[in-house]
Amino acid sequence: MSTAVVLAAGLGTRMRSPLAKVLHPLLGRPMVGWIVAALREAGVDDIVVVVHHQEEAVMSALRDGGVRFVRQESPKGTGDALRCALAQLPARGPVLVTAGDTPLLQASDIRRLLDAHAASPGRLATVASFHAQDPAGYGRIDRGAGIVEHAECSPAQLAIQEVNSGLYAFEAEYLHAEVRNLAAHPPKGEYYVTDLAGRLDGGITGVASGFPASAFAGVNDKAQLADARAVLRRRVNRAWAEIGVDFADLDYASVDAAAVLLPGASVGFGAVIEGRCTIAGTVGPHCVVRNSSVGPGAVIHAGSVCDGANVASGALVGPMARLRPGAVLEEDTHVGNYVEIKNAVIRRGAKANHLSYIGDADIGEGVNVGAGTITCNYDGVHKHKTHIAKGAFIGSNTALVAPVSIGEGAIVGAGSTITQDVPADAIAIARGMQKNHEGRASQLRARQTR
Ligand code: UD1
Ligand code: CA
Repeated sequence: MSTAVVLAAGLGTRMRSPLAKVLHPLLGRPMVGWIVAALREAGVDDIVVVVHHQEEAVMSALRDGGVRFVRQESPKGTGDALRCALAQLPARGPVLVTAGDTPLLQASDIRRLLDAHAASPGRLATVASFHAQDPAGYGRIDRGAGIVEHAECSPAQLAIQEVNSGLYAFEAEYLHAEVRNLAAHPPKGEYYVTDLAGRLDGGITGVASGFPASAFAGVNDKAQLADARAVLRRRVNRAWAEIGVDFADLDYASVDAAAVLLPGASVGFGAVIEGRCTIAGTVGPHCVVRNSSVGPGAVIHAGSVCDGANVASGALVGPMARLRPGAVLEEDTHVGNYVEIKNAVIRRGAKANHLSYIGDADIGEGVNVGAGTITCNYDGVHKHKTHIAKGAFIGSNTALVAPVSIGEGAIVGAGSTITQDVPADAIAIARGMQKNHEGRASQLRARQTR
């Protein structure tokens, strides 16, 4: 049983965003969600998140994580945030404290700090430190003076490259005894958790050094947000590659945290996989696949967009196709370039290969939908359904004015505007009949040039 406190009450003014800092999404998961996931993976079973700014949104973003929340009434620094959590903490035992804005933190870092803390019995706190190439903005670890915030550093302290990661292990008893005694720092009157973790002389608190800087890149502005996203992208993609997913490029594909990829799947250059997806097939270059499933052997060709679609094995989609919510493509279907499908099932083996709109429809097995066919599903007020039964053939550039049904095996002539049901096995032609006026073209031309 171990407890962790996540400090997530700050607004993050440097983000220049109305959204609370810890809610900024990284691969579809809010920043603070990455911390909670790492804590869980490290075996921390009790997580207390300190909230203030947009607390409702933070709580709802974490509602699946089984965490507890405390409110920091008026945020007055990291020490004040910890004071607010005090009543939620156990009487004794280790308490991990972490910021909510270091989303690259991993379970291994957390375990390493807990182990380092446990290895020095008698110590009341252990702070994880790392070596920063550019220590600007971080609290410096000054073994004589403690942890000194950037703004309060002397010129000599500014040069220190060992910095505070913001990850600490405390003995609960120490927190219960000392948090209320913190002194406010001018000019903002903030309380610093670092005053508890930084009692470095005398063995009250200790430093566990040598943590990877990459784990603690703090996100304080949009540039750091983008940097963190790039690191997570590669980390997530690499983990999928290790179980057998083929990536054209580990850096140039974005896979959300909630997506599930299966061995044998492949992800093209620039592909974006968002939300809850299950991908067993191929997502080609520059596709966007959101809340969709792609079965084994299915191929989503370049530049296609799938949103809320279900693509079964062996189906071929695109290039440049658009599948909208409710698009269901059964096995071995083909949906080609510039075809849009919405709320429609395309049954086994059916094809719509070019330039079509299929909305609110049921397209039967083996049907061929010719180029340019449109289901006219909307009459300006209501949506209507189009049914095309098994084996029917729809000629190019047909308008199917719904509600309408095409019977099994029927043939519709190209260019038809179909407003009435077509019986099974019928041929329907609904267009002006052609007349040929022999020899009249040259006569017309002569008149035109006279
Ligand atoms: C803090 C540390 C600094 C360390 C750095 C690592 C202090 C005083 N400084 O600085 O030594 O190097 O983290 O990234 O702790 N928060 C609250 N309530 C508050 C204020 C902050 O919950 O009243 C939360 C924030 O939401 C954030 C975290 O605490 O998640 C850290 O606060 P932030 O203001 O980002 O501290 P830093 O300036 O980065
Ligand atoms: Ca910070």
